[in-house]
Amino acid sequence: MGVRIIATGKALPKLRVDNDRIKDFVDTDSEWITSRTGIEARHVAEEETALDISVQAARQAMRGDGIFGAGSLGVGPIDTSDIGLLIFATVTPDMLVPSMGALVKKEMGLENAISFDLNAACSGFIFGTWVAESLMRTAGIKRALVIGSERLSRIVNWEDRGTCILFGDGAGAVILELDPEKPGIIGFHIQNYDDVGDALTCGMSYKTTPFTKETQKRPMYLEMNGTQVFRFAVGAVTEVMEKVLEKTGLKVTDINYFVPHQANIRIISNVAQKFNIPMEKFQVSIENTGNTSAASVPMALDDLLRSGKVKAGDKVMLVGFGGGLSAGAIIMEF
Ligand code: UT7
Repeated sequence: MGVRIIATGKALPKLRVDNDRIKDFVDTDSEWITSRTGIEARHVAEEETALDISVQAARQAMRGDGIFGAGSLGVGPIDTSDIGLLIFATVTPDMLVPSMGALVKKEMGLENAISFDLNAACSGFIFGTWVAESLMRTAGIKRALVIGSERLSRIVNWEDRGTCILFGDGAGAVILELDPEKPGIIGFHIQNYDDVGDALTCGMSYKTTPFTKETQKRPMYLEMNGTQVFRFAVGAVTEVMEKVLEKTGLKVTDINYFVPHQANIRIISNVAQKFNIPMEKFQVSIENTGNTSAASVPMALDDLLRSGKVKAGDKVMLVGFGGGLSAGAIIMEF
C-alpha cells in the first residue's frame, strides 16, 4: 500500500516583476541577480490574497489533468467530498485564525477535510507531504490535498538588496492518494538543524499589554545571512539526499528526476556536481518565480509533470531546505 501523487496544480499572481524593475527600489543590476541566483523575474501579489492563489492552484489539481508522460492519462476531476485531509504549508498566511487550511476548506467546500497549517519555512511542503503520508496510512484517509503557498512580498524588506531580489509569491498544490497497487512515496528523510547564528529569521509584531516589559527584538520582515544560508543549504541538501538514498537502498543513478527547492541555481548546480548528476535531471523553475519558499517544490513539480518528461515507473526525488533550520527529501515512484 502506497501514497502517491495523482494530480498537481500551481498559480502565480498576475504581476511579473523582472530584475530591471527591482532597480526602482534598490541599488542592483539585472546581470548581477541572474548570474548570482538564476532569477530573471518573480511574481508579486498586488490584489490577490494568499487564499486566492492557493485556491486557484488547488482547483487546477482537483481537475486531475493527464499530466504524466506515456502510461498515464490523468485521473480526471476529483470530487470535493473525496478530500479527507488538507495540510497547508506557509509562513505568510492571510490571517492567523482561521488557519489558511480552514479558509481553503470553506472556499472549496471540502466538507470532509480535516485541515490545518504547518510552518517549516521553505521545507514546509516536504514536511507537509511527510505528515500527510503518515496520517493517510494510519487513519486510512483515501485522498489528501497538500498546498505550499506564500505571499513573501509582504514580509520582504524592499530596501534590502540582499533579500528583496530573491523572493516571490506563488502557490502549488498536490493531491495524494492511498493506493493499494502502487508504491508511490518510497522513502523520506526529514531533519532539523539549530539556527545558531540566526541566519534566517522573520520576527512578529504583537500588540503590547499594560504589563509588557520586553521590547520587540526582531523586525517583521525577512533577515538573512546569505552566505551562511548558502553553506547550510549545500550541506543539508547533500545530507538529506544521502540519507534518503541510504534508507531506500537506491543509488543516485536510480533517480530519474530531482525537484529541489528553488532558492539559487548555484545551490542546485553545486549539489549536482557533488553527486555527479547531470543538470538535465534537475527541474529548474527559478528564473520566472524566484524563491517562493513552501510553494517552490510543488510548483516546480507541476512544471516537471506538465513537461511530459516523467513516465510511469520513473523515480523522482523532492528536496527542500530552509528556515528553522530545516531540510528534507522524499523519493516517490510515478
Ligand atoms: O529559501 C531560503 C534560503 N535562502 C537561500 O537559499 C539564499 C542563499 N544565499 C544566496 O543565494 C546568496 O548568498 C545570495 C544570492 C543571497 C548572495 O550571493 P553571494 O554570492 O553570497 O553574494 P554576497 O552576499 O557575498 O555579496 C557579494 C557582493 C557584495 O559586494 P562587495 O562587498 O563584494 O563589494 C554585496 O554587497 O555583491 C553585493 N550585492 C549585490 N550587488 C548587486 C549583494 N546583493 C546585491 C544585489 N545587487 N542585489
